[in-house]
Amino acid sequence: MASSSAAASAGFLDALDFLERAAPMRTRIEAALEVYSRYDADCPIVLRDAIRHSLLAPAKRLRPMLVLMAAESCGGGPSAMAAACAVEMVHTYSLIHDDLPAMDDDELRRGIPTCHVKYGEATAILAGDALLTQAFELLATEVRPLEVAARCCAELGRAAGASRLVGGQSDDLAAESRGGSESPEESLARLEAIHRRKTGALFVASLRLGALVADAPEPFDAALAAYGRALGLAFQIADDLLDHEGNAAALGKRARKDGDRGKLTFPALLGVESSRRRAAALIDEAVGSIESLGPQAVSLRALARYVLDRTH
Ligand code: IPE
Ligand code: IPE
Ligand code: MG
Ligand code: MG
Ligand code: MG
Repeated sequence: MASSSAAASAGFLDALDFLERAAPMRTRIEAALEVYSRYDADCPIVLRDAIRHSLLAPAKRLRPMLVLMAAESCGGGPSAMAAACAVEMVHTYSLIHDDLPAMDDDELRRGIPTCHVKYGEATAILAGDALLTQAFELLATEVRPLEVAARCCAELGRAAGASRLVGGQSDDLAAESRGGSESPEESLARLEAIHRRKTGALFVASLRLGALVADAPEPFDAALAAYGRALGLAFQIADDLLDHEGNAAALGKRARKDGDRGKLTFPALLGVESSRRRAAALIDEAVGSIESLGPQAVSLRALARYVLDRTH
């Protein structure tokens, strides 16, 4: 989302700074994911390799960071890393399936060939199935106490399910072929509803899981969820803008693909400048929502600013 203004280049430096400061947390997340993706001898090697190809590929790890940062901002909790990895597993499954020929039909993801390009469609579908399932096994076996584990499973299941992530993906695909019979306001409302479900719901769930494992009081949970709602929508607007800007090398995935497929996106509907303004306003809203968390939420504030200024 970088542009040529001085403010944007300052933002770009802040984004680099965030990436550097978050690197140790990303390293810890990736070490845990590596351990969780060592399967026993009953797992076919090709399936294990396909899972690890996608799960351990270079990625930003924003959702697991949100789990850890939300937990930290509420005093921390020993189950936070398991919850963080569960969310990243659901996210990675959603990317593997999103890239399939029947969906967005993409060949590049996280800077390497997509799972189905490398391992074939059937194995990619199964790798996604395995990651989605494992996320809930992980929550149920590693999050304690059990009541918190059950609440984490319910929260993540709802966010990933038919009325949230999967429903948003379904409407995203349906929107590709839709004609122009609705008003711009109706299209915008429909687009926002798609983005809030396909992407935003997992952001909200990440924050809620962090709050749950830290046994956060209700007002903290509500503040984190409000932050997640605004951040999640801003994140997908930024994703649309980055696709529109077209730097595939920086993104590690094909660019300008939304336009080619006739996707309903923010830049297509509002134009670039007003999409940027909308994303910036949402980031301000996100940061404002967690004011009550005080200095403990410093990393959540930095992450929100990064989402606006990121280049990949
Ligand atoms: C990509 O998510 C999919 C969207 C919801 C836009 P990310 O941009 O977080 O991708 P990774 O995890 O860093 O690869
Ligand atoms: C993906 O949205 C959302 C999910 C995977 C749930 P996009 O289709 O815009 O993501 P990219 O651009 O392929 O990463
Ligand atoms: Mg898609
Ligand atoms: Mg896609
Ligand atoms: Mg996209």
